Amino acid sequence: MSSPSTSAPDARHAVFRCIACGDLSDGASQDFRCARCGDLLEITYPSWKESKPDATRLQAAWHDRRASSRAVDLSGVWRFRELLPAIDADQQVITLREGNTPLYELPQCSRITGVAPLFAKHQGMNPTGSFKDAGMTVAATFARRAGFHWVACASTGNTSASMAAYAARGGMRSLVLVPEGKISWSKLSQALDHGAVTCQLRTDFDGCLELLQQLVRRAPVYQLNSINPFRLEGQKTLAIELLEQLDWQPPDHIIVPGGNLGNSSAIGKALVEMLHLGLIPRLPRLSVIQAEGANPLVRTLREAAAKRLISVSPETRATAIRIGNPASWKKAANVLEASGGACEQVSEMEIAQAKAEIGAEGIGCEPASAVTLAGLKRLRQQGFVKPGETVVLVLTGNLLKDPDYTIDFHRGELFEGTRDQQASAALDSLRHPPIVLDATLDAVIRTLEQAEKS
Ligand code: F0G
Repeated sequence: MSSPSTSAPDARHAVFRCIACGDLSDGASQDFRCARCGDLLEITYPSWKESKPDATRLQAAWHDRRASSRAVDLSGVWRFRELLPAIDADQQVITLREGNTPLYELPQCSRITGVAPLFAKHQGMNPTGSFKDAGMTVAATFARRAGFHWVACASTGNTSASMAAYAARGGMRSLVLVPEGKISWSKLSQALDHGAVTCQLRTDFDGCLELLQQLVRRAPVYQLNSINPFRLEGQKTLAIELLEQLDWQPPDHIIVPGGNLGNSSAIGKALVEMLHLGLIPRLPRLSVIQAEGANPLVRTLREAAAKRLISVSPETRATAIRIGNPASWKKAANVLEASGGACEQVSEMEIAQAKAEIGAEGIGCEPASAVTLAGLKRLRQQGFVKPGETVVLVLTGNLLKDPDYTIDFHRGELFEGTRDQQASAALDSLRHPPIVLDATLDAVIRTLEQAEKS
């Protein structure tokens, strides 16, 4: 079988560039690696060198599109299409009206951390409940435009849910490779409902991704992991929309969870491009937080000065970021350096506590997203984040993405058998277990009175 080509949409507008040797090309192979040196590709816009888009006109056009009823304008991704690879016609776009996610203030977490103002950019409010949709609308659009019938991904759950939805909307078939027993049921259920051929492989995420790399070299299947640079172009819009919501005044810090490290790379790329185009006057510091048990970037920066990747055998209940061999580690290391950001790790108990604290704000998120608040606490202790600075936490997934985790936490079953009594006591005040009662008015009133006292 011969594969359709994955050439750049408009060679005048967007080309592929290798992040290591800088080689430029109009097309990319199925594994999205440089034909010369094998490193990752990114999308670049050479025309910006000769004629930069005008920042004020861009801001005005993006603002005006909010009043439009065209699908491409209603999408919080395609609304910013001047900073994306060009499409020929609106009808090509596969959209679920992604993006347009809220920026919330977090007054209680602000008190806890001593940071004000503190915001959450909630990407869990996307159509399939995670930040993946912003990248998927772009990459799925270009998959279909290139003539692919099949799309595929390896996933810890959210990518597969998003890919399955966009493939279904775009009339394509989808193949999902997930680690058996290591993704949440709600994410798995989304892939099933949207018609993906779903393979639960007896390996971890890294094993799934490795297999996918081999598969795309053998079969005409379009890879929709974040190695695909079109994904990262879409995910850039998170940062553009955020800055628009802040009236183009950059926050001091943006804090993001790190797994396969596509999202941090995309946000960093957006920030650098926005600075270049004059949309913002300076770069915020972009920091990446990982779970202690899945901390390859932390170790790579600390122990190998970003010269080579230190892989780990990942283990964390924040299954979305249970990744030991992140594909985009070089891109992430580059954007951390460019923005002067930090890379930190947090414990399972810190994650659980932070997740409950975000939940208590009436917002909620999945465990992987809560590493941002836990990380902020550490960065505050270290003096890296200072009290008067503006901080934005990127919440990547919806609370409903992993109900088992939340229920285990509130029932006190998440850390059963732990010897860390002091840390467990700190979590107890945040627990709200369900109460089983006889169905009598007295029983309910007694419960209400007890709750009032506590
Ligand atoms: N948060 C959530 C909720 C995620 O699902 C992921 C990654 C991340 C953070 C980390 O983002 O990989 O760009 O550094 N989930 C992928 C998936 C790997 O398959 O759904 P990253």
